[in-house]
Amino acid sequence: MSWVARGSHQPNANANGNANGNVNGKFSNANRNGQTNSSPWRQKIAQQRKSLPIASVEKRLIEEVRKNDILIIVGETGSGKTTQIPQFLFNAGFCNNGKVVGITQPRRVAAVTVAKRVADECGVELGQKVGYSVRFDDSTSNSTRIKYMTDGLLLREALLDPYLSKYSVIIVDEAHERTVHTDVLMGLLKTVQLTRSESINDGRNLDNGNKNANGFMLDKVNGQNGSFVRKDRREKSSPLKLIIMSASLDARTFSEYFGGAKAVHIQGRQFPVDIFYTRYPETDYVDASLITIFQVHLEETPGDILVFLTGQEEIEAVERLIKERLSKLPPGSQNLVVVPIYAALPPEQQMRAFAPAPSGFRKVILATNIAETSITIPGIKYVIDPGLVKARSYDPGKGMESLIVVPTSKSQALQRSGRAGREGPGKCFRLYPENEFEKLEDSTMPEIKRCNLSNVILQLKALGVDDILGFDFIEKPSRTAIIKSLEQLFLLGALTDECQLSDPVGRQMARLPLDPDYAKALILASQFNCLEEMLITVAMLSVESIFYSPRDKYEEARAATKCFASPEGDHITLINVYRAAADFLEKRTMEMNKAKSEKVLRKWCNENFINSRSLRHARDIHRQIQGHVQQMGLKLASCGDDMLQFRRCLVASFFLNAAMKQADGTYRAYASGQVVQIHPSSVLFRKKPDCIIFNELIQTNNKYVRNLTRVDHLWLTELAPQFYAVQN
Ligand code: CDP
Ligand code: MG
Repeated sequence: MSWVARGSHQPNANANGNANGNVNGKFSNANRNGQTNSSPWRQKIAQQRKSLPIASVEKRLIEEVRKNDILIIVGETGSGKTTQIPQFLFNAGFCNNGKVVGITQPRRVAAVTVAKRVADECGVELGQKVGYSVRFDDSTSNSTRIKYMTDGLLLREALLDPYLSKYSVIIVDEAHERTVHTDVLMGLLKTVQLTRSESINDGRNLDNGNKNANGFMLDKVNGQNGSFVRKDRREKSSPLKLIIMSASLDARTFSEYFGGAKAVHIQGRQFPVDIFYTRYPETDYVDASLITIFQVHLEETPGDILVFLTGQEEIEAVERLIKERLSKLPPGSQNLVVVPIYAALPPEQQMRAFAPAPSGFRKVILATNIAETSITIPGIKYVIDPGLVKARSYDPGKGMESLIVVPTSKSQALQRSGRAGREGPGKCFRLYPENEFEKLEDSTMPEIKRCNLSNVILQLKALGVDDILGFDFIEKPSRTAIIKSLEQLFLLGALTDECQLSDPVGRQMARLPLDPDYAKALILASQFNCLEEMLITVAMLSVESIFYSPRDKYEEARAATKCFASPEGDHITLINVYRAAADFLEKRTMEMNKAKSEKVLRKWCNENFINSRSLRHARDIHRQIQGHVQQMGLKLASCGDDMLQFRRCLVASFFLNAAMKQADGTYRAYASGQVVQIHPSSVLFRKKPDCIIFNELIQTNNKYVRNLTRVDHLWLTELAPQFYAVQN
């Protein structure tokens, strides 16, 4: 491929003085954990820590935290914010008396990998002093003092502990990402902090359920009984420190939101990165990425490559293609290792991205945009950026959420290229012409403005926030979007006519760590006597692509997956796969240990063209939600061979996603009026039924629905009269 170089460019050099403080300058002792630095590995880690830009400002940062109840910390990616600041706080005594420093991340991969790294740095076992907690995976224990978690998880914790009383400091990390959970969390934390300091300042009794600015009922949460409130009174009487951390230079929005909070900037270390653009637009960016990977591998000096792709499926496809092409190179050029990293990858495999390549090898990391700012992988010298990202998009008018691949913003492009200049000068290959760059948006629109809000609204309602429209959002979602989501929750039975959380359905739904429609499906399934089937379905729908069909073995893959296919549709097909795997394991692995059985299952998956990573993830999720529903006392039963019950339950749960076949073979979605097509991967692609229920809408050039089941349209009025009786 031919490239247009665009000179050297300091992607995100920390321009001076654009905020009220620069804390660099002094050096303080960075390593006070008291561990013995005997092994060479430990010494290396200690050395790495000391050389981070942040190491020299530990003392000043701690002073700032002591002086300011809310502090905004801005620092270039890789400066050490996420891994070091919690340790500084621990060393400074913020975890005394059993208190915890909590750090939220928008992404689970970041929470998991960083916690592991920090446990290593502290020389402790993960889950002891340092731990992580993400949906469906909790490594913490009573002795955990530095806790990494997702922003969504902390929101859930607030349901059980409204004052977040065990935390002395909460760090909202990666705030610039502006995920919907981060945004809502900031509103919640503002209130919690106020309440905790009020209760110290005037010692007033807050036990009568008073509401504060954001409308939280801070004492009558979840119908907890009085003893909870009393026990908790002492707990909330300790101040909560808030730290908002961001990789982008603009701290103003956050500072203004928190009433003029102080912002400090940490000087990053950034080497120049040469930016290259393609001469012409690329028609196939996957192919262009491949060509560029090999161009760099064969022509450039040593250094690892980071490629930004849009999702698991694409990453897995590129991984296979690289391996294929690599095998055709002369043996001397085959020294390239491929490592994928994306959210759903099992934790041990995520860690592979951080391990150095074997000596003499170059590593190419295929990542989603998690590698943009959330995680810092050492050794990167080359970045390949197709300029795309998979993003949520929501049309409130139609009430439809979809995942679409869209161009990145300018600030994302800069962050990505910056990853090449962490340890020395680097190169970034943007797979689009330079004039395209100028057309990009400056920054990404906050997620809260482009997603379905029913999930967070349900949680806010469960927290006692009555007036959603009046909630102090850092940026308000549109009125239409809020109303549409309230309407959806009402139709699902989570809200009453008065817009209050319904009991028990609404409360049960809020307790389940799932989207409201999935939560409702589980509750309904216990009534339809098919909870076992629905649990499997929800677990399988929560992971990306269970099947894979490599381009060269397309027919073979089709034949292999045929034996699972159900004429009723994809949901039952997924259940068949899950059960076949479970049966297989049960028969083969009676006496095997865990590692062996994993291996056997992987082999079975390969033979059947099943994605073993996804299946493993689904089995994990299944175990966890099964725990939740059992705790809730839902009736765990199977409908056996009577899949009619199960299909009727799908209708009762996902009635908002019903579509009717039209004369030309396309479908019209009832609720939104959108015209959609069946995705070619569906088992119903060839035999198109009259009426379907679907779970996913993806938008490329066409609108496709995926994961669908054949249903009887008469069931709609029968099982979802709240919606269809009115419609007709
Ligand atoms: O949060 P920020 O981007 O400022 O930096 P960080 O995540 O604290 O990372 C600091 C340094 O730790 C990085 O430059 C990496 O070299 C190293 N690190 C690592 O080696 N392995 C990890 N899992 C995480 C960080
Ligand atoms: Mg970070």
